Amino acid sequence: MPAPVAAGKTALSVGEVARRCDIPVSTVHFYEAEGLIRSGRNKANHRRYSRHVLRRIAVIKVAQRTGIPLREIRQALAVLPEDGAPTALQWRAMSRQWQALLQQKIADLHLLQQQLDSCIGCGCLSLSDCPLRNPGDCLADGKASGHGGTGMAGI
Ligand code: FES
Repeated sequence: MPAPVAAGKTALSVGEVARRCDIPVSTVHFYEAEGLIRSGRNKANHRRYSRHVLRRIAVIKVAQRTGIPLREIRQALAVLPEDGAPTALQWRAMSRQWQALLQQKIADLHLLQQQLDSCIGCGCLSLSDCPLRNPGDCLADGKASGHGGTGMAGI
């Protein structure tokens, strides 16, 4: 149930939020349905958003671009106040939660970059030798043992 939002010039309509964040209105509604942002209602029963929602959405967009799942974004945003702008200390606390995750993503991307470099021009995707093959695919490993690295064509 939407919480009341202070009426006045500072409250934003869903269209204004969408325009300011460069996202479709449906995405604003989606973020709200996912519990990432909140709105209130004005006297005409229209949704109104506090301005701090703009910053939350900016964080959500960046986090989504880096592949952080919505579940983790929701957890991180939960440490921030829902009804007002967070303090620098609160932002720092939230950012600390993502440090390990971001470091792992950076390491994964470096590894992928190195593996892609070694595969450029090859294209074999050999089950026995290629670092890009699916290492967790136990069934494929079983099949591969009989074929000795036949590449992706056999999958
Ligand atoms: S494509 Fe990766 S080793 Fe050939």
